[in-house]
Amino acid sequence: MKNWIVIGATSAIAESVCRLWSTRGYNLFLVGRNADKLESVKQDYTVRGADTVFTHVLDIAQLDKHQACWEQAKAAMGRIDGIFIAHGTLPDQKRCEADFNHALTEININATSVLSFCTIAANEFETAGSGHIAVISSVAGDRGRQSNYVYGSAKGMVSLFLQGLRNRLFKRGVMVTTIKPGFVDSPMTADFEKGGPLWATPDQVAAGIVKSIDKNRGVVYLPWFWWGIMQVIKSIPEFIFKRLSL
Ligand SMILES: NC(=O)c1ccc[n+]([C@@H]2O[C@H](COP(=O)([O-])OP(=O)(O)OC[C@H]3O[C@@H](n4cnc5c(N)ncnc54)[C@H](OP(=O)(O)O)[C@@H]3O)[C@@H](O)[C@H]2O)c1
Repeated sequence: MKNWIVIGATSAIAESVCRLWSTRGYNLFLVGRNADKLESVKQDYTVRGADTVFTHVLDIAQLDKHQACWEQAKAAMGRIDGIFIAHGTLPDQKRCEADFNHALTEININATSVLSFCTIAANEFETAGSGHIAVISSVAGDRGRQSNYVYGSAKGMVSLFLQGLRNRLFKRGVMVTTIKPGFVDSPMTADFEKGGPLWATPDQVAAGIVKSIDKNRGVVYLPWFWWGIMQVIKSIPEFIFKRLSL
């Protein structure tokens, strides 16, 4: 039985992951800002077999409350085996271009708040000599594009930070998994036209996440073919790339 904290626990992808973990009898400490939704998923996971499910209401933008949240999780579960970070927002790129304060809000939720939780977990797991940090970044963080470079740069920062953490913590027995999904049919992409082979469901991505964590993978593209797509995108020379409308 394992004890995991899930940050952004009401995300569609996190919910799918937690359903799988529930059937294994995990203890879950769910963190999100929507109390009603947390309560409803808590009941679902309990029915599915989760051992104990705790909920903690937090607007994750409030960085000064992160340490207290971690301490409460520790007090509730006794030991923390892993932290899975799944929250995020998809910014309005045009609004970010016009108003840097809005861009900063988006960067804080998609990058700074993630780094804050990672730092708390990293220090604790390093001392313990065990633990797993798994974070949803995005393929969007692999290369800046005009249509979403504020979101992309926030995710890029998360990916690079995790790369450094993995390098720092590997020798201390702590695993760090960077998850890079492509297009996922979730509330975040509600306004997108969907369908076609590039789109995945939260359940498909969740199955890949659970498997990657089980196998202590470092970086994982989900579905797998996004690795190939991003190799091509990253290999386009900048003098060509800047002329494309991506
Ligand atoms: N969907 C995609 O195509 C896609 C692709 C690549 C990566 N990702 C990443 O995958 C992760 C999960 O996204 P998803 O697709 O599952 O979308 P989602 O269902 O919209 O989940 C986003 C979650 O973030 C939470 N959240 C946002 N701001 C918050 C805040 N200040 N405090 C607390 N919670 C906050 C939302 O809470 P509320 O329910 O309360 O709003 C929601 O539960 C995100 O990191 C996203 O960037 C998604």
